[in-house]
Amino acid sequence: MKTVAIHYFTGTGNTAHSVKQIKEQLRAAGYEITVQQVKKGVVPLTGAFDYHIFAFPVLSWAPPVIMKRYMRQMPVSKGTKTAVLAVNGSIFHDGKLVKGYTGQALEQAESILRHKKYDVFLTANASFPDNWTQATNPCSKEDSAAIFPLGDAEVRQFTDDFIGEKRSLYRCGWFNRLWSYIVAFLFGLIGRRALGKFYIADENCTGCGICVKQCPVRTIKMDNHKPKGRPYWGTKCEDCNRCINICPERSIQVSVPLLIILFGINIGLTIYAARAILLYTPLWLHVGRIPLFGLELLFKVIATLLLLWVTFVPIAAFFQMLLRIPGARRFFSKSYTQNFRRYKADI
Ligand SMILES: Cc1cc2nc3c(=O)[nH]c(=O)nc-3n(C[C@H](O)[C@H](O)[C@H](O)COP(=O)(O)O)c2cc1C
Ligand code: SF4
Ligand code: SF4
Repeated sequence: MKTVAIHYFTGTGNTAHSVKQIKEQLRAAGYEITVQQVKKGVVPLTGAFDYHIFAFPVLSWAPPVIMKRYMRQMPVSKGTKTAVLAVNGSIFHDGKLVKGYTGQALEQAESILRHKKYDVFLTANASFPDNWTQATNPCSKEDSAAIFPLGDAEVRQFTDDFIGEKRSLYRCGWFNRLWSYIVAFLFGLIGRRALGKFYIADENCTGCGICVKQCPVRTIKMDNHKPKGRPYWGTKCEDCNRCINICPERSIQVSVPLLIILFGINIGLTIYAARAILLYTPLWLHVGRIPLFGLELLFKVIATLLLLWVTFVPIAAFFQMLLRIPGARRFFSKSYTQNFRRYKADI
């Protein structure tokens, strides 16, 4: 019997749903399946398998950072046949279906796995309801119900192609690859961490701890707020949007006041630092004959990264402390997400 290892990450269950479907279809075709969900602390499966399948949600045109790290940690292969499924997010806009877009995510995953000598023969997309509740109001139940069969059909096609060992590799074109790589790089380095810092549990939080237990990277912690603990968010967030979508009280919001204050502080500090660097660096350009062009730009990049850290670690921690003041939590919870639906896939 041929053996298949399926490795996947999921935020809100679309990828878990797809994997369940792949598993059932492959079992029915006589394959032996081992499934591993990627989360903090999970190490790559090391057994000898005839095939591998990797599946993940597309987060800003890239695989989740934890998934990339996992793939990089896979043992070097001797050309094991491998397939990759990217699960992206569709929405309905003005009654029209707008399909998700994967950008360079599949090519990036393919490149990591090829580097490890896996024979990647199949890469494909499947589109399920968009789960980015931080940014867009999730689909209604009716819209989700209309999107699901389309995604299921794409997963079925992927599995059929896998069984038939069809060689088919998704390509988005060099221009799309370039811009989506740049966005994905910035999202992986800074965006996902910063976005995690704007989450806040509002007054309706019961302190049940479900978000803490369910976070796949364990970046949510409970403070000792009296009379009940309240969650706060660290800097390792993948921005998978699981917590905001699964809270039983719909109590997790994107804090608009915090967003304005932290970005305001950050932009102010960055302008100040840029002016200071501009003022002093030209003096250095005249030292001897050493060509120091570009030094100013380098200083600006370092200062920007440093100031981002200052904004999102110590300054954000200060605002976290303010939440203890009566009424502060109500003020900081003000958000458009209070009116948004929540999304979770039926697995
Ligand atoms: C931060 C974030 C970024 C996303 N970026 C994309 C994207 O670039 N393209 C896309 O089609 N969907 C994007 N999505 C939507 C998800 O990929 C999609 O809803 C996916 O089906 C979720 O799978 P999951 O339920 O397994 O987490 C994004 C979602 C989040 C939370
Ligand atoms: S935010 Fe929601 S899930 Fe997290 S502790 Fe509060 S009620 Fe529970
Ligand atoms: S904090 Fe929320 S969005 Fe971030 S990784 Fe954890 S569950 Fe996902």
